[in-house]
Amino acid sequence: MGKSLFLKLFVVYAGVLASVVVVISLMLSVLYTQRMYEEKRQALTGAGTMVNRTMGEYLDGLIGMDRLSTSIDMIGYIADARIYAIRYDAISLSEIAKQLADDSQADATLVEDLSVLLNGSSIFHSRAYSAKLDTDVVLAGFPLTRGTEVLGGILMYAPLDRVTRDIWQMNLVVFGIALGALMVGTLMILQLTRRIIRPIRDMQSAVVRLASGEVTDPVPVNTQDEIGRLARAFNHMQEQISKTEEVRRGFIANVSHELRTPLTSIRGFLQGLLDGVIKQEAVREHLLLMMDEVMRLNNLTGEILDLAKLQSGTLTLVKERVDLRMVAVDTVAALKGLLGEKRLAMSVESGEPVCAYVDPDRIRQVLINLVGNAVKFTPDGGVIDVGISLKDARVVLWVRDTGIGIPEEELPLIFDKFHRVDKSGNPAYGGSGLGLNIARTIVELHRGSISASHLPKGGTEFTVDLPES
Ligand SMILES: Nc1ncnc2c1ncn2[C@@H]1O[C@H](COP(=O)(O)OP(=O)(O)O)[C@@H](O)[C@H]1O
Ligand SMILES: [Mg+2]
Repeated sequence: MGKSLFLKLFVVYAGVLASVVVVISLMLSVLYTQRMYEEKRQALTGAGTMVNRTMGEYLDGLIGMDRLSTSIDMIGYIADARIYAIRYDAISLSEIAKQLADDSQADATLVEDLSVLLNGSSIFHSRAYSAKLDTDVVLAGFPLTRGTEVLGGILMYAPLDRVTRDIWQMNLVVFGIALGALMVGTLMILQLTRRIIRPIRDMQSAVVRLASGEVTDPVPVNTQDEIGRLARAFNHMQEQISKTEEVRRGFIANVSHELRTPLTSIRGFLQGLLDGVIKQEAVREHLLLMMDEVMRLNNLTGEILDLAKLQSGTLTLVKERVDLRMVAVDTVAALKGLLGEKRLAMSVESGEPVCAYVDPDRIRQVLINLVGNAVKFTPDGGVIDVGISLKDARVVLWVRDTGIGIPEEELPLIFDKFHRVDKSGNPAYGGSGLGLNIARTIVELHRGSISASHLPKGGTEFTVDLPES
């Protein structure tokens, strides 16, 4: 019982149903019994009045003894009772009492009842034993009166078994219906309880499967109530978990791939050097190539570490008021120094200082990535310009290039981890594909947004929108 919610609910519901049904049927039974006795009492009272009147007619000499006895027989037949009309007074009552004292067959309460009648009151026993009739009876008694004078008593014995038989028939019907209601109700409760419990059980087994790494079907939802909402929330959570799991697997696959490529070429070079296959004059060139690969590994691991820090939320921004135009000018100047052979025109729009409350190191990291990308994806002779402005308490930074551009369908994807448009491995476009993801995360930590778009004349524009403070 303690282990099953189903059983708990079922027992409570069924218990409530059973007590309601039992109480109602007992009430019906009691009410009906009372009603039956009341009816009998009224019938006998009516009969008593008629006997009294007929007796009056007899005493007035209006009818004879024959008429009297047939009348009383008829009244008795109709009322289903044996009727005795007795004339007596206080003296004859004491005589009767004396006679009855010797008679072991006499009814116990007879003398007492007769004296009540003599006082002008009626009696009613819903159950009495009549020795004369040798059965249980309903006994009613009325004073026999003429005007205000009490002449004696009328006693009426109605056999009890007729009344009780009716009552039992009625009880049988009531309890039969109650039993039926109980059975139907129990079946309905069973169904209801099952319906309530099923999604909970489904979710419980789904959680177990989920925990062991299995992919599970969504739990069916067919109600709008709390359990339905829970099931919906559960399905949503399950979807999120499988998405996260997918992303994690993809991430690991990507990282391993990115690490393997430079390691493989470094190994190849080292093997060549060790085997002496590489000529003396080519050694330096190979070492430089290896240096490149090591730098790539270095950048990649740095980016992965940044990503991990940004995602775990352990990174806190160290904000201060800085002139972002100065930050942009410094960044572009530093990148210019790294251009080498490449012929590109790079400039930052001149203008007022644009002060904002940001983490300057992190914003510099974003700019390095955006301008670095522009340099990487813009052929010789291209133009890169960086602009910055302040409007409505928002700082807008943009980086434009005249480079190869980004296909329309790729625009929403380039901010995803490891996403690169060119997957051919062209060394000119080399990189991990993490840069823009890191940039977006940093911008979002500043409660800003970043987007990319085409320029009409070709090339790409990246726009960063940040709150001023
Ligand atoms: N200025 C740009 N012009 C053309 N393509 C770009 C530009 N900036 C980014 N991309 C595309 O977006 C991809 C993701 O950029 P990023 O996340 O910085 O990774 P990475 O620079 O390591 O390749 C790049 O591989 C490139 O395909
Ligand atoms: Mg990049």
